[in-house]
Amino acid sequence: MANNKVAPVTLITSLALLINTSVFANQKTTEQKIAIPENYQSRFIQYHSVDKPADGDKPAKIRFLYVNPEALVAARANQAAPYGTVLLMEDRKAALDDNNQPLTDKHGRYIPSDEKLAIIIQEKQKNWGDKQPEVLRNGDWDYAFFDGNGVKKQDLDYTPCFACHKGQQVNDYNFTFNVFVNQLAVKK
Ligand code: HEC
Repeated sequence: MANNKVAPVTLITSLALLINTSVFANQKTTEQKIAIPENYQSRFIQYHSVDKPADGDKPAKIRFLYVNPEALVAARANQAAPYGTVLLMEDRKAALDDNNQPLTDKHGRYIPSDEKLAIIIQEKQKNWGDKQPEVLRNGDWDYAFFDGNGVKKQDLDYTPCFACHKGQQVNDYNFTFNVFVNQLAVKK
């Protein structure tokens, strides 16, 4: 599947600029309540994946996108994701050939190595957005970024996460899950 079908870049850029230069830049934007769910690889549903080409010093990677099964069952087309939804991306380094180019399978997709680069989560729980300034608030979603060893980046500035995902307001602040649920509904 083609990657980088990203939402309006200009909107994202202008939002990011707005936020970066605003008084919110140094504000603590997350409550830091999110933990990596136990056994997500076996318990969660993998609903999507995206190949990301190398970018500067960032290696080529494959992102595996997971959702908790309870949320998928409760989700309805064209509605906000249910409370308790956990969207998790596992970034895995792509396997490389002798020329350091990503190896691909017969569909042209990258082949993942075992090396995890990051685990990135957005989770929605009641009142989690209450303390957010409206310009940044993503409903009741909060965000967390863990490195490949599962260690949370506490001092990371999470403002860009909120700013960029804010542009997806019509899809309940996420890029892939609501779209996936809508597609499922069409197929039924
Ligand atoms: C410049 C825009 C941008 C920024 C900044 C950004 N994201 Fe995203 N995010 C995306 C896009 C686009 C996707 C869809 C997957 C892809 O193409 O990589 C995504 C997907 C996700 C997903 C999977 C669920 C979904 O929305 O589809 C999670 C979880 C996530 N991002 C968390 C974060 C966190 C945490 C941060 C901050 C550390 C962050 N994002 C910063 C653009 C952004």
